[in-house]
Amino acid sequence: MGGSSGLLIATDFTGIRKTMNIITGKAKVAAVLGWPVEHSRSPLLHNFWLNRYGIDGVYIPLAVKPENFKKVIIGLSASGFKGCNITIPNKEIAFSCCDEVDEIARKIGSVNTLTFKNDGKIFGTSTDGAGFIESLRDHNIRIKNCNVLILGAGGAARSVISSLAHEKAKITIANRTNSRALQLAQDLGTGNVIAWDAWTSLLGQYDLLVNTTSLGMEGKESFDFDLSKAKSGLVVTDIVYVPRLTPLLKVAKEFNLKTIEGLGMLLHQARFGFREWFGVDPKVDSETIEYVAKTIRE
Ligand code: ATR
Repeated sequence: MGGSSGLLIATDFTGIRKTMNIITGKAKVAAVLGWPVEHSRSPLLHNFWLNRYGIDGVYIPLAVKPENFKKVIIGLSASGFKGCNITIPNKEIAFSCCDEVDEIARKIGSVNTLTFKNDGKIFGTSTDGAGFIESLRDHNIRIKNCNVLILGAGGAARSVISSLAHEKAKITIANRTNSRALQLAQDLGTGNVIAWDAWTSLLGQYDLLVNTTSLGMEGKESFDFDLSKAKSGLVVTDIVYVPRLTPLLKVAKEFNLKTIEGLGMLLHQARFGFREWFGVDPKVDSETIEYVAKTIRE
């Protein structure tokens, strides 16, 4: 046993950590709710941090259908859970369960993090966009006045665009369904819209390219990304992280462009919840990245 830190010496399946938390009756408990939830890396990540910081706590995956979501949330709150993360398809329903939300959640109409407060109130926020910004900061990207081209106009784009706009980036949106991009720009009060067919030829105008579509995700359609018109300083990012080297990032590397993988956003978006529920601001470092990356195909 690791003495006061409450750790048990053990080897887990990745072989990296040599310790395991002891869970007592006072353990702080949190969860991720999704349908399905098996793909989520959040339990792995949060339990890695709980072990690292020697916290008496646990984080579990819960498969919750949208039609059961509200009653599950009431039950979790009533049974002493500290909070939870929300993944697809429950982010909008989760928003409607909150007593309080912050400005970013109100703007995008969905939440990925709930905190059950001591007075019984439920607080919700969306940390995806902030996680994305942090992952850019890890790579020393200057966001203010950066010319950003966003591919996609779904929920993920909504979070990323809100946070980029907050940091004063200049945003252009290209989406297969043009009307959705126009609606998004109108809802958020920001972003020029260009036609989906035009983005490759206009690429020379941008400093940062962000794929928020599901193109290139394992099991989904891919796309013939043409980056031949990019300027040499273009930074290419993908919020897809399975596989780590997405088709877009692969092409970017062939053109010797700087790339930022989606895993950083996933790790950073988790920090807010961990801090709220377990009281420690966890570090996203190379050990954390390596630990989670071991479960993802290159
Ligand atoms: P999420 O909430 O994860 O962003 P979503 O709301 O379903 O998911 O959005 C998915 C995004 O990927 C959309 O921008 C979608 O484009 P449409 O609005 O035209 O549907 C985009 N997308 C999905 N499949 C695509 C494909 N084959 N080609 C181009 N864009 C695609």
